[in-house]
Amino acid sequence: MTSPRIIRVAIVGCGSYGAEHAKFLSTHPGVRLHAVADLDGARAEQFKAKFGAGYATADVARIWADPEVEAVWICTQHHTHAPLAEAAAAAGKNFFLEKPLAITLADCDRIVAAVERSGVIAASGFKLRFFPAVVAARAFLGRPTLTVAQVIDDHWPSDFWANDPVQGGGNVLSQGCHIVDTVLHLHPTGPVRVYAAGGNRHHPTRDIVDTAAITLTFADGAVANIAVGDVGVPPHSSKFALQQSDGTRSFSLYNRLNALMTREDKKITEHPLQAEEGAAVIDTPFLAAVAAGGPSPCPVRSARRTTAVVLAAVESIRTGRAIDLTAAPYAAAMQVS
Ligand SMILES: NC(=O)c1ccc[n+]([C@@H]2O[C@H](COP(=O)([O-])OP(=O)(O)OC[C@H]3O[C@@H](n4cnc5c(N)ncnc54)[C@H](O)[C@@H]3O)[C@@H](O)[C@H]2O)c1
Repeated sequence: MTSPRIIRVAIVGCGSYGAEHAKFLSTHPGVRLHAVADLDGARAEQFKAKFGAGYATADVARIWADPEVEAVWICTQHHTHAPLAEAAAAAGKNFFLEKPLAITLADCDRIVAAVERSGVIAASGFKLRFFPAVVAARAFLGRPTLTVAQVIDDHWPSDFWANDPVQGGGNVLSQGCHIVDTVLHLHPTGPVRVYAAGGNRHHPTRDIVDTAAITLTFADGAVANIAVGDVGVPPHSSKFALQQSDGTRSFSLYNRLNALMTREDKKITEHPLQAEEGAAVIDTPFLAAVAAGGPSPCPVRSARRTTAVVLAAVESIRTGRAIDLTAAPYAAAMQVS
């Protein structure tokens, strides 16, 4: 009898979401949490003790040089995504990179180029695509006409790094990317135009956009309205919600996209509520891709497109103009294959 294949993995970034991945990876029978790294060496040591990693280090170069490491989870601040992804790809390491892909279009381009140069399997952290209720909604209604979606969270502290314009980009980029990604995933054609209104409503010490009403137009004429902000979770629909209609059928995704209601011929069907799985929902398909030698379940090109659409929405808010996504500098990022 052959023993099951064990994938040796490392985590770079031992913070709150690194811990979500560690919880899953450290208990997966097909995975060995071989190493953990953080600039803060004490945090890496605590992580090693808590999750039973092989070793901890404050020197990330040790991970790249370690021939035992087959895949790396990069769970760090957004401005570090591009240099860490480039280093992983140069070392031939498959990598999972938390969302958004990066904080600028140029950084997104660096990541896509590094992955395509190296041939490593790389996935971005847009996990909502894999939620069972989202998968069912996509199968129910393949060609939407009208979408209304939101990620509306409770207030984020202004001194939170994700609200730092250099490290995080603000909640519209940091969380808005999740719902924009889901909306793009639920359309068969790509986005061609974005217009957004909003601005900085309650983080006066930060040069960020914290509130956005985004209107997207797709190549097939479909349109989507997306609301993003840390202005207070709506009690009925929850933080994440999304509804679509195609002229005859419609659905509502709510309860953080874990609940689905569909409507056809005026008959409403309430589907069973799904339990939210955390990082497992995306780590499982990524591990399967690493074991099989590809393809990526959430390719960096698709993550670049999502991130570029959010960056274009922020540009629209700052300039007051609609942005043509079929023209430079965004057109190249709209190419997903
Ligand atoms: N998918 C989700 O639902 C979800 C939820 C929360 C956060 N995230 C994402 O996870 C990522 C990390 O967020 P977080 O909340 O865990 O942040 P965090 O601040 O809790 O942890 C980040 C860690 O990375 C370390 N770090 C920073 N730069 C580093 C480098 N160059 N080398 C090694 N370590 C480095 C920091 O010291 C820190 O310990 C972000 O991309 C964030 O958007 C995703």
